[in-house]
Amino acid sequence: MDGCRRRGWKEGGRDDGQAEVWASDLQGRVWAAPARLGISPCPEPGDLNRGRKFGSSVMESRMDQDEVQKPEPGRNTGNHNDSNTDFQVTYTHEEVAFFHLHQTHHFDEFEYPSDQYCKQDLFPKWHLPLKIASIASLLIFIYTFLRDVVHPFVTTNENTFYKIPILVINKVLPVVSITLLALVYLPGILAAGFQLHYGTKYKRFPQWLNGWMLSRKQLGLLSFFFASMHACYSLCYPMRRSYRYKLLNWAYQQVKQKKENAWIEHDVWRMEIYVSLGILGLALLAILAVTSIPSVSHSLTWREFHCIQSKMGYLALLLCTIHALVFAWNKWVDVNQFVWYTPPTFMIAIFLPIIVLLCKSVLLLPCLRKKIQKIRCGWDANTEMNKTQMTSRL
Ligand code: HEM
Repeated sequence: MDGCRRRGWKEGGRDDGQAEVWASDLQGRVWAAPARLGISPCPEPGDLNRGRKFGSSVMESRMDQDEVQKPEPGRNTGNHNDSNTDFQVTYTHEEVAFFHLHQTHHFDEFEYPSDQYCKQDLFPKWHLPLKIASIASLLIFIYTFLRDVVHPFVTTNENTFYKIPILVINKVLPVVSITLLALVYLPGILAAGFQLHYGTKYKRFPQWLNGWMLSRKQLGLLSFFFASMHACYSLCYPMRRSYRYKLLNWAYQQVKQKKENAWIEHDVWRMEIYVSLGILGLALLAILAVTSIPSVSHSLTWREFHCIQSKMGYLALLLCTIHALVFAWNKWVDVNQFVWYTPPTFMIAIFLPIIVLLCKSVLLLPCLRKKIQKIRCGWDANTEMNKTQMTSRL
């Protein structure tokens, strides 16, 4: 569209038989004429909107003005005066009528799109990550619902359905988030294992691993999205009415027991540490998400990008795993956590991240790290072997 926009601006001149339209004539907006821009006479939905958007911004007008003043070879400059063409675009009567019609009837928003538009795949790179996130969310929701809501209802007839909107959801969100984050780094480890096994970087990865590697950005962004939601849900805990009633009940129990101080030192430390680690983890995930925006990543060197996405990513995974571990604290040795013989969600949550972190630590061992570096620099075990075989034969 950029190229089109520029052409649209630059071709604005007076031609014989054409009506001259000032930007202000169309409610102060400058329109990009499809016919002039080389767009099909029946524009795709959104083309007009884009033209409208770009025309409405003074900053953009100024920027494009500068571009207009640069002469371009092979362009139809016509017989116009450069000084007054900057804000001036010419259209035929039909074009003007067409735009007025669009403006009054909002065709681009409500008309049926062209066949070609219907055939376009919607967010193709997001299909697999979204499927994984949806399936994981559903499974963990059912699991938590059975453990936290159905189990107390069946065993002690306790009604805890109020937990569904916040407490149950806030178990699903962090578990899915940390699992997705682990899934971002798992294919890299598998790829390193693959390269170590074959002793070369020139052998193609299997198709499934290739597809998985290509989905890492989307998996990471989804992980960030789930983590942000988890942070919002967690921070609103004290606002809930159920929490306030519980607090009042605890206070009453304390008075009944004639206890003056309810302070439990280790619990205080536990909470301070895990919330702080959660905030740090989320901050790192935010940096990773920002640096995955193409305009930002293009401004970084390969080394800077790799440093942020790999090292900082592993650090985020480590912080989030410790966050979950500290949250669990002494619940690890509490048998009551095993409801209907099922492990608590925090154990499920950290299972994959711990595997990923352990594998990464193994790969960081000097002997393996050096070999991987060599392979990635082009060293090939197979050609080395052939060379030694040749020399021994000679
Ligand atoms: C501002 C940042 C964060 C805050 C305030 C926060 C807070 C919390 C809280 C209050 C809990 C306990 C939930 C409960 O009682 O059920 C918790 C658990 C947890 N959080 Fe976070 N968290 C943050 C960021 C993160 C991030 C970035 C991750 C990972 C991507 C994460 C993963 C977990 C996990 C796995 C659990 C255990 C869930 C369970 O099984 O019950 N948290 N967090």
